[in-house]
Amino acid sequence: MHTALITDYSKPPAYATVDDLPQPTSSQIQLKVLATGLHNLVRSRARGAHYSSPPLPQIPGTDGVGVAEDGTCYYFSVFKRGGSFAEKVNVERSGAFPMPKNLNAIQTAALVNPAISSWMAITARTKDLPENFSVLILGATSASGRLAASLARTLGAKQVFGAARNASALDSLPLNIKLHVAEDPSKTDFSPLQGVEIDVILDYINGSLPTALLSTHKQQRPLQYVQIGTLSGQEMILPNSVLRSTNLTIRGSGLGAFNQAEMVKEVPALLGALVNVEKQKIVEFSLEEVEEAWDRTVDKDARIVFVP
Ligand SMILES: NC(=O)c1ccc[n+]([C@@H]2O[C@H](COP(=O)([O-])OP(=O)(O)OC[C@H]3O[C@@H](n4cnc5c(N)ncnc54)[C@H](OP(=O)(O)O)[C@@H]3O)[C@@H](O)[C@H]2O)c1
Repeated sequence: MHTALITDYSKPPAYATVDDLPQPTSSQIQLKVLATGLHNLVRSRARGAHYSSPPLPQIPGTDGVGVAEDGTCYYFSVFKRGGSFAEKVNVERSGAFPMPKNLNAIQTAALVNPAISSWMAITARTKDLPENFSVLILGATSASGRLAASLARTLGAKQVFGAARNASALDSLPLNIKLHVAEDPSKTDFSPLQGVEIDVILDYINGSLPTALLSTHKQQRPLQYVQIGTLSGQEMILPNSVLRSTNLTIRGSGLGAFNQAEMVKEVPALLGALVNVEKQKIVEFSLEEVEEAWDRTVDKDARIVFVP
């Protein structure tokens, strides 16, 4: 069968022919892949740069949508062993979720990875949120950030605030407060948040922005910070005075911070919620074009999806 195949962490995958899959075991189901998304996670694992990077040779891809022999469509995750950029996959039944009617395969392949980031952060990595909680999204114009605004409301948020460096993209988003991140993120003007109580911060940016925010923003209520992405840095320095002056809880969100069983429990509800999410911009390529399309520049707010 055909797959994308990485044999060198410094090169894009090639379109390759590999041995056909063995028959699925009794705990598995074989799916013909319909669509797989090129997420930041997939790129990072393909470079050998992620804590979960599989060894070489590696079939890239962590999830997708496929159809079983009986015609049932599933969203599937192969995070643990990798390899969704293929014509067929054998997946554990526990990692295959029937698609709700009205959910499109291409959109689903593109959206679950960015969507699950905020869904798991709120459902598994916060505790005792008040009713009608408020959320601040750092990196609100990223695919994950845009979905986070919508999904946080689905999960009960009343007020959703967002910060991003791209002022015009930020302006177009339905947020209660918008913060323009300065070129030097530590110089960002946080005054629109003065007197505002934030229950959860979902951070896709990291680096100096959360440091500056947490050092500046003071509030009465407990504040839960969830580290999710690293668009602008791999680490955050936190003056220890912040920990003494704010009722702050710091957690991260990703597989490891929550376990597989917690994620499996949430995926059906997330798929249901995606039915009502606005369609996102997608650029579609055939798997055959993977080598050339891998590094292709597409619209900033579009996600690449491969179709075998
Ligand atoms: N832990 C998890 O469960 C999980 C799941 C999914 C994603 N993630 C992580 O979350 C982050 C976002 O992922 P994504 O797929 O949503 O990203 P994405 O859609 O590729 O977002 C990229 C956008 O973020 C903005 N951006 C890029 N660099 C930035 C910077 N230095 N400062 C501020 N904004 C910046 C840019 O928009 P503008 O140019 O318009 O500013 C860019 O278009 C990534 O780090 C990803 O690895 C984590």
